[in-house]
Amino acid sequence: MPSMQQLFPLPIIQAPMAGGATTPELVAAVSQFGGLGSLAAPLLAPLAIIEQAEHIRRLTDKPFAINLFVQPRPQIDFAALEAAKVLLQPVCAELGMENLPTPTRWCEDFDAQLDALITARPAVASFTFDVLHGAQLQRLQAAGIRVIGTATNVAEAIVWQAMGADAICLQGTEAGGHRGTFIGAQQDARLGAMELLAACRPLIQTPLIVAGGIMDGAGIAAALAAGAQWVQMGTAFLCCHESGVSALYKEMLQKAKGDSTRQTRAFSGRLARGLDNRFMQMMANVADQVPAYPVQNALTGAIRSAAAQQQRPDMMSLWCGQGVSRSRAMHVAELMQTLMNEVQAAS
Ligand SMILES: Cc1cc2nc3c(=O)[nH]c(=O)nc-3n(C[C@H](O)[C@H](O)[C@H](O)COP(=O)(O)O)c2cc1C
Repeated sequence: MPSMQQLFPLPIIQAPMAGGATTPELVAAVSQFGGLGSLAAPLLAPLAIIEQAEHIRRLTDKPFAINLFVQPRPQIDFAALEAAKVLLQPVCAELGMENLPTPTRWCEDFDAQLDALITARPAVASFTFDVLHGAQLQRLQAAGIRVIGTATNVAEAIVWQAMGADAICLQGTEAGGHRGTFIGAQQDARLGAMELLAACRPLIQTPLIVAGGIMDGAGIAAALAAGAQWVQMGTAFLCCHESGVSALYKEMLQKAKGDSTRQTRAFSGRLARGLDNRFMQMMANVADQVPAYPVQNALTGAIRSAAAQQQRPDMMSLWCGQGVSRSRAMHVAELMQTLMNEVQAAS
């Protein structure tokens, strides 16, 4: 089985991005160009994982990755749920929603998703939010699937290395979307991508991927010069024509200037970075009290749908990283070519 290094020629991994951005067209276009496209499957039902993998294969014969959140089935505390609804009441009132419905489903079943992923047999599988059990990792590798684990601090990188991951994705605090932290408090994993790489380099022999705030070829060249094998870029791909996020989301990203993101746990119950907006500000004082992911995420689902329907970006979760003001709206192939030209110019 070829190693991760032999699988695809360019040092660019397109980050998995749950919530619709990573369409089969986006993933396939990145892989077709020589990077590694990643399908975000955390919110997909098992059958949809298999169907989307087939869709990617109809578009390209190049390797790609599928990504999952490692998460146990949640235990629901119904008293805490009612308290969480009360915390969201001012937001509901502003959107004209009388009652926040109790979700009928909290998240997909991880074991069933993992079975589907193994059936889909991508070249690479990446995981965040926790580590796999040894038996799960061995099942993947026995099926010829290379495994990437996400780490937001040195301790997590050491655990993934000990588990035998094929590569470790170091997620700096600049990164858009959810923090992958599973050791220590999420707010304590504060290192930026390049500092985290520097801290891990002396201790980790497993090939390293750097993620967070990398938007152009100069950023890629800097990460590679500092010892990373690959970069993982999310926000840079969000405004691509092949990205599945809504026109309004893309418009907000393109309007974003300078320091326009912040981290919050108010939308989902897990710390995540996105465009700072009214929802985050209204919830700022109570964000520490909301239930953990996936309960809060499911609970705010109706709010986020209503906000999208009412074209209220100030109430939507617009996940993106600190580099958002450098987003470029173009086709994936054009972005990849531009990035590689910039890498050459910077090296
Ligand atoms: C909209 C969005 C959704 C994301 N969803 C996922 C996901 O489903 N799984 C995952 O492992 N990482 C997810 N991430 C985090 C990325 O893997 C990566 O760490 C991040 O995009 C890197 O930072 P950047 O956005 O500054 O490039 C998401 C990021 C964004 C922006």
